Amino acid sequence: MGELFWNKVFGAVLATALVVFGIKELGHALIHPHEPAEPGYKIAVAEEGGAKEKAKEAAPVKSLAEMLSEASASSGERVAKKCAACHDFTKGGPNKTGPNLWNVLGRTAGTHEGFNYSDAMKAFGKVWDYETLDAFVSSPKTEVPGTAMGFAGLKKTKRCCQFAGLFAHPE
Ligand code: HEC
Repeated sequence: MGELFWNKVFGAVLATALVVFGIKELGHALIHPHEPAEPGYKIAVAEEGGAKEKAKEAAPVKSLAEMLSEASASSGERVAKKCAACHDFTKGGPNKTGPNLWNVLGRTAGTHEGFNYSDAMKAFGKVWDYETLDAFVSSPKTEVPGTAMGFAGLKKTKRCCQFAGLFAHPE
């Protein structure tokens, strides 16, 4: 292969491209196509598909109120299996890697007896309500930066409010 081989190849490609563009331009110069503002036919199938896609995307983001209305202790128990490695949910139950969570709703963060909380959790100091619990369980490290809770967070569709029945035990 001579040194000029690639030059020739590029030259050929370039020339072809120029010819192709040239023809297109020339075509436009000679003929003035009328492009209709609306296509003559509608692609109904594609539109429907698009709407469905949108519905799919929108579905998982539920409002807190919606999630609460769907909450039940049984669905909570299922989701809470992810927490059970570190948390006990029973009344008077032990602290494990994480504090006991019986009746955590309404409790001030970082105050369960006998648990050695991180400084971050002690400083957080809010009372756990549905909003804060929801935010914390969705992304612990965003809600309480520096928390010792080594848990990535629940997906929105599974968030804590489905646990309502587990967190609150009015007597
Ligand atoms: C890998 C262990 C681990 C898992 C899994 C885990 N946690 Fe925790 N959790 C902790 C630790 C440790 C703390 C204490 C955090 C601190 O002191 O910063 C904590 C703290 C908490 C607190 C604050 C309690 C208080 O007394 O202020 C709540 C609420 C909580 N976790 C809920 C959950 C829920 C709900 C799940 C499941 C979706 C879960 N955690 C999963 C380890 C875990």
